[in-house]
Amino acid sequence: MERIIERAAQDLVNSKYAITLTGAGISTESGIPDFRGPQGVWTKNPEAERRAYLGWQRFQEDPKGYWEERLKASTGALGELSAVEPNAGHYAIAELEKMGIIKCCITQNVDALHEKAGSKNLYEYHGSFAKLRCVSCNARFRRDEFDLEKLLREGQLPPRCPSCQGVVKGDTVGFGEPIPSDVAQHSLEEAWRCDLMLICGTSAVVYPFANLPRVARQRTIEAERKTEAGLYAVQRAPAVTIIEINAEPTPLTHDMISDYIITGKTGEILPQIVEEVKRIRT
Ligand code: APR
Repeated sequence: MERIIERAAQDLVNSKYAITLTGAGISTESGIPDFRGPQGVWTKNPEAERRAYLGWQRFQEDPKGYWEERLKASTGALGELSAVEPNAGHYAIAELEKMGIIKCCITQNVDALHEKAGSKNLYEYHGSFAKLRCVSCNARFRRDEFDLEKLLREGQLPPRCPSCQGVVKGDTVGFGEPIPSDVAQHSLEEAWRCDLMLICGTSAVVYPFANLPRVARQRTIEAERKTEAGLYAVQRAPAVTIIEINAEPTPLTHDMISDYIITGKTGEILPQIVEEVKRIRT
């Protein structure tokens, strides 16, 4: 394990523009179950997954009803998230950003733990449970910017966007709902721009997020070299190093999209990588 930690740390130190992609696996050590792991929410409760697939359609058909149900329901599939704290994996990523190594974090997680851990350049690809969003202009709001209980009492749901009067929904992106265009665009630009992608705690089966590593893998660097016959040949080399940290291999491993995988817990491996990066830099 030590060797591969050293390799990952050296790759990070050598990188010019490293980014990280994360999934539910990075939050399991904070006590939030993932979705498709052995203890996953969908693994244990396929009915809940089926219901989740209806969320976006429900909102489109009846935003008022969607809100009434949402305000009457106690918590979502992941339980009460506001009291959950980040773990060593989240803090390690925030520290790599502070050290100038990681340029941004693109997460599928709606639990706001990267933000709580101090990550700044953060794209919440599937939204955040702590935010609301206007479905017309993409404006984001904190929950307390609307008195939702008052709107419920006065039959004034759904909440409306103060600037464009569009309908406001929870920021979390439902199955079938388009990824908000601003986050989708930025994430694609980062995936195309990076020279290292550190992928932590995702099964990499949910699209379009799972496409980001595949986009990055397409990028090559061209180098000209002179052949023995004195001709010039263009050599193409992969422009991006892709590293996975996950409890188990994923389609990115099997399809050789990633260069290598470090198998284990993100909360244990990421802090070791940070220590090794510090050692290399001293
Ligand atoms: N360290 C490393 N890997 C872990 C850990 C851990 N502590 N805990 C779990 N894992 C691995 C699991 O083995 C699994 O391969 O993380 C992966 C989590 O995969 P999923 O549960 O599929 O979660 P994710 O990839 O984030 O799901 C994507 O699906 O349900 C939707 O919108 C939801 O954002 C979510 C999306």
